[in-house]
Amino acid sequence: MVTPKIALAKSIKIKVERGKTYMWCACGLSSTQPFCDGSHTGAGIAPIPYIAEEDKIVGFCGCKHSKLGPICDGSHKQFLEHS
Ligand code: FES
Repeated sequence: MVTPKIALAKSIKIKVERGKTYMWCACGLSSTQPFCDGSHTGAGIAPIPYIAEEDKIVGFCGCKHSKLGPICDGSHKQFLEHS
């Protein structure tokens, strides 16, 4: 399995619109986080579609290690530095 790059160790809040499909970047290489910009080509990881069921604010996964795919599950906390 290919390990994704940690793009951001936090959730990325985006206002989504009901019925729209958002292509979530799973590889961490996109410069338009949290969404795919095509940078995954050759990386062995493909984007995962998120279809909005309603208008709302979604916390998309920025670390690319969420067990919920596109949705933040708090997994980024393991990548935060502790002082
Ligand atoms: S750029 Fe990361 S999945 Fe497309």
